[in-house]
Amino acid sequence: MLLTLRQLKVFEAVARNGSFTRAAEELHLTQPAVSMQVKQLEGSAGLPLFEQLGKKIYLTQAGQEMYHYCRNIAQQLDEVDRVMAEMKGVQRGRLAIAVASTANYFAPRLLATFSQQYSKATISLDVTNREGLLAHLDANDIDLVIMGQPPEGLDLVAEPFTENPLVVIAAPNHPLVKIERIPLERLQQETFLVREQGSGTRTAMERFFAEKKVLLSTGMEMSSNEAIKQAVQAGLGLGLVSVHTLELELETRRLTILDVESFPILRHWYVVHRQGKRLSPVAQLFKDFVIKEARGLLQISE
Ligand code: PGA
Repeated sequence: MLLTLRQLKVFEAVARNGSFTRAAEELHLTQPAVSMQVKQLEGSAGLPLFEQLGKKIYLTQAGQEMYHYCRNIAQQLDEVDRVMAEMKGVQRGRLAIAVASTANYFAPRLLATFSQQYSKATISLDVTNREGLLAHLDANDIDLVIMGQPPEGLDLVAEPFTENPLVVIAAPNHPLVKIERIPLERLQQETFLVREQGSGTRTAMERFFAEKKVLLSTGMEMSSNEAIKQAVQAGLGLGLVSVHTLELELETRRLTILDVESFPILRHWYVVHRQGKRLSPVAQLFKDFVIKEARGLLQISE
């Protein structure tokens, strides 16, 4: 059956209005133009769609069937419109993300997969420590943040999406490497290289050892995981970092994870935004993507 969307549109207007004249007015067409479209549709269907009784027109049984499908088609077309509009937002939008410096070991991988598979939006990525992330959330100048344990007390929506185990690392020739189940107290004889104040890793480390009543001696303070790892490799002390920062060093055996009692410290990564924030379509899509797919994309090698 050959029919056009235009014929269906005109037919729908006539059926809904119960009148050729009103349909013509609604569609800004002449009445003969409307009649012509309906006649052509009846020709294609091979059945009359309307019957005239007195001054009123009624749908025939075939007309009622046609009307039913017409409305479904109209709904589908509306849906196509809506989905396309959403896709335009998603494809052309801007996405501003801020991640913890520790999350930067996997964030570019997530963003690459997201831009290859879901959106050509322009993405900006700010890498900063926990304190910097809290400042972003406070200023509400960013779409989404990826961070460790979000703080209590701020109005935030925070969804965990994967584990973030913190481990103690040493140079491969360190005497503790060979020891199993190293007691926590034994660490008091070592020097720890620590991240800067404001780092989530540092805060988690301090909280953990305070709870366990273990007093660590800390050596140099460094503002990046890379610096910590280099210093540990150079034999300057032990370090405490997220497993996510270690992929390369474990593969090349330049660092070793120590088998310490009560370790790893189990934390999680969260995707976070302010409560009540109206996420753009692309930000919502990225958030859903992180929650659903990030875990599978980030393999943790321990
Ligand atoms: P950071 O990591 O130490 O780079 O701030 C964030 C976190 O673990 O909370």
